[in-house]
Amino acid sequence: MTNADLERLHAFMQTCRARVERALDRRLPPADKLPARLHQAMRYATLDGGKRLRPILTYATGQTLGVPLEILDGPACAVEFIHVYSLIHDDLPAMDDDSLRRGKPTCHVQFDEATAILAGDALQALAFEVLACDPTLAVSAAQRLAMIGCLARAAGAGGMVGGQAIDLAAVGLPLDLPALEWMHIHKTGALIRASVSLATLAKPDLDPELASRLDHYAKCIGLAFQIQDDILDEESDTATLGKTQGKDRAQAKPTYPALLGMAGAKQKAREMHEEALASLEPLGARADLLRALSLFIIQRRN
Ligand code: IPE
Ligand code: IPE
Ligand code: MG
Ligand code: MG
Ligand code: MG
Repeated sequence: MTNADLERLHAFMQTCRARVERALDRRLPPADKLPARLHQAMRYATLDGGKRLRPILTYATGQTLGVPLEILDGPACAVEFIHVYSLIHDDLPAMDDDSLRRGKPTCHVQFDEATAILAGDALQALAFEVLACDPTLAVSAAQRLAMIGCLARAAGAGGMVGGQAIDLAAVGLPLDLPALEWMHIHKTGALIRASVSLATLAKPDLDPELASRLDHYAKCIGLAFQIQDDILDEESDTATLGKTQGKDRAQAKPTYPALLGMAGAKQKAREMHEEALASLEPLGARADLLRALSLFIIQRRN
């Protein structure tokens, strides 16, 4: 990876962040149609914060495959809406009980618990409304349906929600490595994988072998992403993270550093990055952006 690759990545990420911010803003429902407090909570949690890694992955996969980015605004927003809903609910007192998110008070602290629950519910429904109805999503009805199925599976009991259920059930219990990996691949990996799949589904003539390699890449970086999240919870600080540091240890959460030690966790993240790169090999230079994103995921500081 050269410095030029990383500079290109940073420029691309900046462009995507601005792009998705506009796209999210336009797709959130207007104030006159909603109860004011719900409207404010949805906008508060969604706009102006976060790395936007999942939309960036959707756009980067599209760029790799020659899919016009205009088609991907809807899918990029859909996966971010699901992600934001998952964060709002993850922070609730009944779950991780966090008061800081993206450098601001969490949604239930800023508003109230019931409003936060409803804002999450509404964002989840909005994600599917966007995939079903967004006029900029210029793909066939069969492709829309495939995208809806893909995101529903990733968000639901067999994906993110299933992983979150294990996360909560496992507090204080010693998970073994396969169980910890299962939890991470589901609670976080599933939506990251969907971010890539939504872009591959926008290209119906994609060689299935390439689609499966991109999916494996996404599976690897999804696991690496949550391992790095565990590492940063231990190593970083609250100001840099924009969320309270040290929560996992305080709440006796099963994490990679807890199970493998810090060096072991970093080694595992590096191995997942290498496996992600190997999966991209047949794509050649076209996939340089995806390679740089994989490196970003294990080097990020927040
Ligand atoms: C945090 O995700 C929750 C996890 C799944 C680990 P991000 O680190 O992507 O959070 P934002 O979107 O940048 O705030
Ligand atoms: C959250 O994992 C995964 C989600 C589905 C939101 P964490 O609980 O570790 O995420 P943070 O550290 O609160 O962002
Ligand atoms: Mg959690
Ligand atoms: Mg949490
Ligand atoms: Mg965490």
